Amino acid sequence: MPLPDEEQSSELLRAQSHVWNHMFNFINSMSLKCAIQLGIPDIILKHGKPMTLLELVDTLPINKAKAHGVYRLMRILIHSGFFIEEKISENEEKKGYWQTPASRLLVKDEPFSLAPYLLVVLDPILTEPWHYVAEWFKDDQPTPFSTLHGRSFWGYASHDPKLNHLFNNAMANDSRLITSVVIRDCKHVFEGLNSMVDVAGGTGTMTKAVAEMFPKLKCTVLDLPHVVAGLKGTKNLCYVGGDMFESIPQADAILLKWILHDWSDEECIKILKKCREAIPSKEEGGKLIIIDMIIVNIQKEEEKITESQLFFDMMMMVVAGGIERDEREWTELLKASGFAHYKIINKLGSRSLFEVYPS
Ligand SMILES: C[S@@+](CC[C@H](N)C(=O)[O-])C[C@H]1O[C@@H](n2cnc3c(N)ncnc32)[C@H](O)[C@@H]1O
Repeated sequence: MPLPDEEQSSELLRAQSHVWNHMFNFINSMSLKCAIQLGIPDIILKHGKPMTLLELVDTLPINKAKAHGVYRLMRILIHSGFFIEEKISENEEKKGYWQTPASRLLVKDEPFSLAPYLLVVLDPILTEPWHYVAEWFKDDQPTPFSTLHGRSFWGYASHDPKLNHLFNNAMANDSRLITSVVIRDCKHVFEGLNSMVDVAGGTGTMTKAVAEMFPKLKCTVLDLPHVVAGLKGTKNLCYVGGDMFESIPQADAILLKWILHDWSDEECIKILKKCREAIPSKEEGGKLIIIDMIIVNIQKEEEKITESQLFFDMMMMVVAGGIERDEREWTELLKASGFAHYKIINKLGSRSLFEVYPS
C-alpha cells in the first residue's frame, strides 16, 4: 500500500477519529445508564451545591476502592454535557460536580424524568435486537425484535409484567413534559369538544390532564387489556381495554399520541380507517389530534432534532416495525385513510401536533 502524503494522512486520521467516535457511541449511552443506576443525578441534586469526588464516592453505594472509576465516569459525562465542574463556593478554588439541564431530566423522581425511558431503551430486551438487524434484512420477520424474541414487542410486553410496567411507566414520564406544553400552548385544540378517545393512550397521562382541564369533556383511554388492567377512571375519564384494530369507541375527537410511528403504512391505514368510523364529519366537529414526529430536512440549525428523529426512526424499525415520516409521507397516509385536511402546530420540540379533519 503506498504511503499517504501529508494531506491524505491528516484526512485519514480525522476519518479514524470519526469511525472511533461512532464505534464507541454506545459508551455514552452505557455511561449514562450506569450514572442513573447509581443515582448520581439524584445524589448531586440532593447535595444542593457542587460535590467533590470524595463526597460523591462517600455517598455512592459502591466499593470505595473504585473511586478512580467514578472520576473517569464523571469525566466522560462532563464531556457529553450531563454535568459540569463548578467552584464549591465563592471563596474556594476547589471545584465539584454540578448538574446541567440534561442531568435534571435524569433525576428519578422528577415529574419530567427521562430516567425510566432510558432504562427501558437500554434494557437488554431492547438492545439485543440491534445485534440481529443484518439477519433481519435476510429473513421474513417484521422486526429484528421478532427475529430475536420470536414475537412482537407488544406481544412480549403482554407476557412480561416487568417489561410492561417499565415501558408504561417510561411512556407516562415521557408524556408529562409534552403534556404540560400541550395544555399550555395548544389548549384551544380541545375546546368545544364533548368527547375524546385517546387511542392506545397507555396509562392516560395526557388525557388525565386534559380531563382535569375540561371537566365537561367525556374522555376515554383505550389500550391493550394488560396495560389498562386495574386503572381507575375519574368522573369524566374511563379506561377501556381493547384492540384499536378491532374497534374504537365513538367520540368527537380521537387523540393518537406517539402511536402511528409504531406501525407500517398498511397498519396505520387500518387504524386511521377505524378512527374515521368512530368520529363524525368535519362539519359535525369530528377530528383527529395527532402528536408524532415529522421528519425535517437535515439543516444545520435543526441538526440535533434531526439526529433524534433519525434515531427514533431506526428504533421504530428495529423494535416496533414502524417508521418516522416526513410531511409528504404523512399527507399520503392521511389521504389514503379518508382524511384530507390538516393543520400542523409545531410546538413540541422534535414532535408536532396536528389537527386532522375527515374529507
Ligand atoms: C408508544 S406507546 C404510546 C402510549 C401513549 N399514547 C403515550 O404517548 O404515552 C404505544 C401504545 O400503543 C399500545 N398498543 C399497541 N398495540 C395496540 C392495540 N392493538 N390496541 C390498542 N393499543 C395498542 C401500547 O400498549 C402502548 O401503550
